[in-house]
This record gives sequence, structure tokens and C-alpha cells, in this order.
Amino acid sequence: MLSEFLLAEMNRLGVQDALPLHRQLYEAMRRAMLDGKLAAGERLPSSRDLAQDLGLSRNTVVAAINQLGVEGYLVSRVGSGTYVNDNVPQINSARRARGGLRTLPTLAPARLSRRGEALAGSFCASELEVQPFTPGIADFSAFPLALWQRLQNKHWRMTYPDMLDYATAGGYAPLRRAIADYLRVFRSVQLDADQVIVTSGTQQSLELCARLLADHGDTVWVEDPAYWGAVKAFMATGLHLHPVPVDEQGIRPGASDDAHPPRLIYVTPSHQYPTGSVMSLPRRHQLLQTARTHNAWVLEDDYDSEYRFSGPPISSLEGLDTDGRVLYMGTFSKVLYPGIKLGYLVVPKSLVESFRQAHYDLNRPGQMPLQAALAEFIEMGHFSSALRRARQGYAERRQLLLESLRPLLGDADGPFISGADQGLHLCLRLPAGTDDRALAQRIGQQGLTVRPVSAYCLQRQDLRGLVIGYGYAPLAEIARCGRLLTDTVIRAGASR
Ligand SMILES: Cc1ncc(COP(=O)(O)O)c(C=O)c1O
Repeated sequence: MLSEFLLAEMNRLGVQDALPLHRQLYEAMRRAMLDGKLAAGERLPSSRDLAQDLGLSRNTVVAAINQLGVEGYLVSRVGSGTYVNDNVPQINSARRARGGLRTLPTLAPARLSRRGEALAGSFCASELEVQPFTPGIADFSAFPLALWQRLQNKHWRMTYPDMLDYATAGGYAPLRRAIADYLRVFRSVQLDADQVIVTSGTQQSLELCARLLADHGDTVWVEDPAYWGAVKAFMATGLHLHPVPVDEQGIRPGASDDAHPPRLIYVTPSHQYPTGSVMSLPRRHQLLQTARTHNAWVLEDDYDSEYRFSGPPISSLEGLDTDGRVLYMGTFSKVLYPGIKLGYLVVPKSLVESFRQAHYDLNRPGQMPLQAALAEFIEMGHFSSALRRARQGYAERRQLLLESLRPLLGDADGPFISGADQGLHLCLRLPAGTDDRALAQRIGQQGLTVRPVSAYCLQRQDLRGLVIGYGYAPLAEIARCGRLLTDTVIRAGASR
């Protein structure tokens, strides 16, 4: 009876999991005990008899019995034999009594929390991200990979023990200094290096702000339409999202919004994501005043400010802040490559210590050799030259894309372009009523990835369009891809 059960189990395990014989026997015996087929306190047949009954070598049986002994399932009594330990619980028979057991162990149902359902139910990335026109994707081929590898190797070779530890003090000091110097000069951010906290990118910066500056259920104002990553970060931290519409001058809070006082206001002033509008100076002052009135923190996401192609230069919103309520964040995802997972958060002086400590405790940041390589990359001027080259390449692509979209433009009530002066994407705005999701899908069938503007809208119904990235599209291909896109829009009848 016992040997029949063991043989059946071994057979199943051998076929299913390809385990070696002694491991199959071990599993089968363990299961027999948990299942009550071998009861607590019961004496086992001798290893010789068991080997004979099962048609196995004695070594195989002894190996299985020894392992079960080490794990406490079996006990040997000198001169008397081997017994099932009195403490072995009969878990499976108890489950069967409750009607729960099949021969295979049952897996817990994949039950998510309500928050988990909401987060997992709105997955955002495309299946194929590295495609012409995917928004937010840079041209990785332009990245000086060989140089980068040399720098990384150098810092790995030089690594002394504390560089392998967690990163304390907000990150590697020379990197924080290099970031501070860059931001002071190019983004007019008012800061000292100790205000910089190196993070694993904007996503982590946002979560840190949400956790430290707002409580569960507090309200965060987000732009409508909004960047998915930020929406998810706030959802994940239990904040209440209040969408505020965006127009060609950026976020435009009205009297009705004041009825939902914010604790946080999240904005992308340099290049609103996804419409591309640049927040005007009056709007910036208004927003800072509104934040003051509500005693709210402003989270400025300056994700692609490195690329400005036309129009006057724009500085950060933080640069206008006189009472230290703007937290500024940036990322290396767009200038280097997204998988580098490095970004930065600039916090007001009053928050430095709390943010450093909480960042350490919540995230256990690390990657010091990588941070050291990046610091040298910036200090030696490689970052500026990479930027210069990238700007030139993107400017050409942008120009070619704009030319290929021209046949769609010109009609007063027809499509128009927003957000093309800056960043790595533009927005082709389409007449209200256009099914931009279906259109994006049709364009997808041509091997191009664009995103429908309506997919970024939280509450608004009036915005339609396509978010078109020109970062990744190869220069030699972009005109052809642009014409393909234009033809598809025309054929779909969405151009008027
Ligand atoms: C508005 C915005 N912020 C930030 C990021 C990048 O964030 P991360 O540093 O987490 O890669 C993106 C990427 O597409 C973005 O569109």
C-alpha cells in the first residue's frame, strides 16, 4: 500500500519535474507523511525492504531517509528502527478534511489588493517600446558606449569597500556636485550640492515626495492629461488624485479646483507631458501663489528640458520659487539611457536631512561605482558633448518629422501641432470626436508606435491627438515613417 503510493508519486515527479531518484523518493515520502499515509510515530519498513519493494538501490533509499532525518521528519531509535517523528503535522489530510486537497498542492488564488487591481489593471507601456515614434524613447545608438564601458571598468577596478555599501548622504558626493553645477547653470535651479538626492529615477523621486510630504488620502493635483508614471506613483502611495486641466500655457487651476485643496501639485512646466505646452511666466507665478495659498508643495518634473529647439530658453519653475516649496526632479533616462536608472531630486534645505534618512531607510540606495562613473562622465565634459550631439540629431529628426506631417495641417478646424519646440516628442492634435485610440492602433499596424492623447486624460473628454516621439526613429527612416503616419491619418479621415 505504502510502496504503491510512493511509486505513483515518484513516477509523477519523475515525469513532471525530472528529479533524480533519491529526490523523488524524498518528496514522495514527505508527501506520504504530510498526507497521513505514514502517520506520526509509525515505524518505517527497513531500508532493505523498502529498496526491494520499490525496485531501487539501497543507496537511493538511504539517501532519501537520511535527508528526511536531517530535516526532522524521521527519527532513528538505536536497535529499533526508523520512525515518523511525532511532531510531523498531517497538513494535507487536515486540508482534505476541509475539502481543500487535490493530489497536487493548491496554490493560493492570485488575489490583489484594491490598489493592486487598479495599478495592474492599467498597464501603460507598449509591447514593443523600441519602435519609430514611441514617445519618451531616446536614440540609444548615439550613446558613447565604449567610453562609458571604460569609465565603468575603471571605477569597478578602483572600488574600495565602502563603495560597495549602500549610498548614504543622498548619493556619491562628486556626482551630487556635478548635478548641482549643471542645474545651476543650465536650469537656473537655486541649490547647493547637499540638496541633491540621487535616486533611481523620477519614479522613485515622486514616490519619495508622495510618502514624505503627503498622508494617505491627501489630495494631489495632477495635470489633465497627465504622465502615467506620476499617476501610478500617487495611486501607489494612496493619494487622492485631482485632475486640473492643461491648456497651451500649462496647468490652469480654476475656482472649482480650490474646493479640493492640494497637499502636492505635480507639474511638467518645461514641456507638459503629453501635450508639450510650455508653462507661461504669468502661469508660473500664479501657480506658485496658488501653492502658497494652499500651503502645498510643488513637484516639478523637468524630464526632457535638455532639448530645446526653438523659442526663448526656459528656466525651471524652481528658479522662481522664493519660499522653498518647489521640489525639482530630473532624470538621466533621456540623455543617457533609461536602464541606467539614475535620476535626482532637489529638495529645499529644510527637508534635506529628512529626505536623506527616509530615502536610505525606504530604498536602501546603492550603485556607488555607477554613480562614480557618471560623475566622471559629467566632470570630464562627456555629458555636455553627448548632449550637444544628441541635440543636433534630434533637431534634424524633428525637422523631418514636421515636414512629413505638413499635409495634415493648414485647415483652421483641422489638426495642429503642439509642443514641438522642446523635448523628444510632439503632439499632433486632432479634431474633437476623433477616435484617437483606434487611429493609434491603425498606425501601430504599420510598425509605428504612437500614443493616443485620450489615453492620458483623467477626466477630460475634449482632447484628441497623437503623441509622437522622434527620439528613437532612425534619421534615414523618419521621413518615410512620417509620410506613412500622415497617409494613415488621412485615410482614416481624421485630418478634418
Ligand atoms: C513626464 C516624465 N517624467 C519622467 C520620465 C522618466 O522617468 P524615469 O527617471 O523614472 O525613467 C518620463 C519618461 O518617459 C516622463 O515622460
